[in-house]
Amino acid sequence: MAEGSGLILSVESSCDETAVALVDGGRRIRSNVVASQADLHAGTGGIVPEVAARAHLRWMLPVLERAVDDGGLRDWGDVEAIAVTYGPGLAGSLLVGLTMAKTLAWLHDRPLVPVNHHEGHIYAAWLVDPGQDEQAAPVFPLVALVVSGGHTFLVEMVDHLTYRLLGQTVDDAAGEAFDKVGRLLGLPYPGGPAIQRAAAQAVRHDRHFPRAWLGEGYDFSFSGLKTAARRIIDAARADAGLPPVEPGAAPAVDLPPAVVAELAWGFQDAVIDVLARKTARAARAVGARSIIVGGGVAANRVLAERLAGEAAELGLPLHVPRPGLCTDNGAMIGAAGARLYAAGARAGLDLDARPNLPLASR
Ligand code: KG4
Ligand code: ZN
Repeated sequence: MAEGSGLILSVESSCDETAVALVDGGRRIRSNVVASQADLHAGTGGIVPEVAARAHLRWMLPVLERAVDDGGLRDWGDVEAIAVTYGPGLAGSLLVGLTMAKTLAWLHDRPLVPVNHHEGHIYAAWLVDPGQDEQAAPVFPLVALVVSGGHTFLVEMVDHLTYRLLGQTVDDAAGEAFDKVGRLLGLPYPGGPAIQRAAAQAVRHDRHFPRAWLGEGYDFSFSGLKTAARRIIDAARADAGLPPVEPGAAPAVDLPPAVVAELAWGFQDAVIDVLARKTARAARAVGARSIIVGGGVAANRVLAERLAGEAAELGLPLHVPRPGLCTDNGAMIGAAGARLYAAGARAGLDLDARPNLPLASR
């Protein structure tokens, strides 16, 4: 990318975060405003798509105003392009961000850059916070692990915007497993951070959950782990004189916190073990020179520590964004958008939402 490439305004609304950012030169965050709907979805223990879409509609303009203010944007002529997530994600959610971005592109006569949400999670590894010294950028070839609520996959990148899929989940995403098991344990939504917090309280570390290695490849499977978790949790409940968790019923909040902590630890350990070992194995196999991680589950500090250990053993730099840049945000879309813009990616004002958009090389 041409250094000094300009300011990108980016919009993200694919799931349950309404987000707008200003990113300079593809890396430096000028502003990054995220309105999370987590509290809104806590009551239902998961996302109801129409509720998410309506919340985007409510928050999109206030978030845009804050991002413009925080970034000190006075002249829209300073904005080189408008980047927007057009997939994958929830259709109704995507449409709100797309409408916002298209309106800005039309109003200010700026190019519109279509960004794949997965690419955003990958390019979060390049971001630099305001006031922070510029870190060394990830070097190619690299292996990227993307672990979010909707997706889990490993790709090799030999250069910018080129992706070779090494493996992916054959069933549930890792974040989805965190959310479902969190619910079985009676923890609040989203399950990932709640499980991390509970696991940190565990005194005993001897509850073993199964790992699905799926042979020597790089695919993942988390649905068996989820089923096993239900069985293990029910056994722990029986030990405590409690009935099994009712499918679809309100979360069980009655297990003693010490047991919840042990179970949360065991589950988290199983997920992290597979993610970290497969990532390290892939990095070794392709001769990677760096490893990057992105997506909401990468906000898990135990995963980051475990990966740091694996990377150190391989003598490779590991790039894990800070937690707020792992979960959905606008800055990551700006970072990917800047690369795409420099590579000539443009969308017309007829750009449509692509709920099942796959990650593809340019
Ligand atoms: O990337 P993201 O914000 O949205 C999607 O694109 O899906 O990821 C959300 C997922 C949720 O499943 C959430 O439970 C998980 O990321 N998550 C975590 C942590 N923080 C968020 N999982 C494990 N540990 C965390 N600290
Ligand atoms: Zn995401």
